[in-house]
Amino acid sequence: MRVIILKNSNETAKWSAYRIAKEMLKFKPTPEKPFVLGLPTGSTPLKTYKELINLYNEGIISFENVITFNMDEYVGLSPDNEQSYHYFMHEHFFKFINIKPENINIPNGMATDLEAECQRYEDKIKSVGGITLFLSGVGEDGHIAFNEPGSSLSSRTRSKELTHDTILANSRFFDHDVEKVPKLALTVGVGTLLDSKEILTIINGYKKSQAAYYGIEGSVTQMWTISALQLHRKALLIVDEDAVSDLKVKTYRYFKDIESKNIDLEKMKEELLTFK
Ligand code: GLP
Repeated sequence: MRVIILKNSNETAKWSAYRIAKEMLKFKPTPEKPFVLGLPTGSTPLKTYKELINLYNEGIISFENVITFNMDEYVGLSPDNEQSYHYFMHEHFFKFINIKPENINIPNGMATDLEAECQRYEDKIKSVGGITLFLSGVGEDGHIAFNEPGSSLSSRTRSKELTHDTILANSRFFDHDVEKVPKLALTVGVGTLLDSKEILTIINGYKKSQAAYYGIEGSVTQMWTISALQLHRKALLIVDEDAVSDLKVKTYRYFKDIESKNIDLEKMKEELLTFK
């Protein structure tokens, strides 16, 4: 696992966007060989989406041959509901880039047969050759996608009851009314995430410092599903200074030292131009 420690959320956004852009440029996607990008919602990726939109507007990257798969969606919210992840993705990302609508995949939380919908989603991911890079955030209790504490570490896409903690945390998007937050969601599994070729997880802020601790220093446990990333061959945690508050000083210094040459954002941006 690589851990990149940066000053703040502006820097984690830039670093993650430049990394995604670099992987896309290196891959040279075509209609026959599309780049398959897994995407999250939540407040964490918002700045990364802005940076990716900037790179698109600057003509550095294109989403023409990119297929996306979102990690989750609430059950029972239609795509035009402002709190649905369909709506979120359109408003914060898709409407600003040249992605083809048919290349966008988000679990259908309105499906009458949720189990069949989850199977369809897994099959679709498989049919395009799997996910090249999954971008992720993390919940305060360490959940990745909606894989709440206690989720099987080999789980696949399925419906999942949300915990009270998550409902409470997400109620900020629902007028702070826990009653309005859906209690069920469709989510890719931990196993689905682990199958992707690379996972980038952004962790910002004090509230996430325990999740960062369990992800980096804790043992692998179903109670902190972020810890499953330790089993992935290419997992990268992009963490801001506030989120590392619970790490040992020794761990902090170790990652600061070994990654010191890889955090120059200007250099990363310049490198993107060399792919032209
Ligand atoms: C939700 C999403 C997760 C996300 C988490 C954290 O529970 N299902 O994918 O990582 O929220 O959200 P935020 O980035 O707003 O803190």
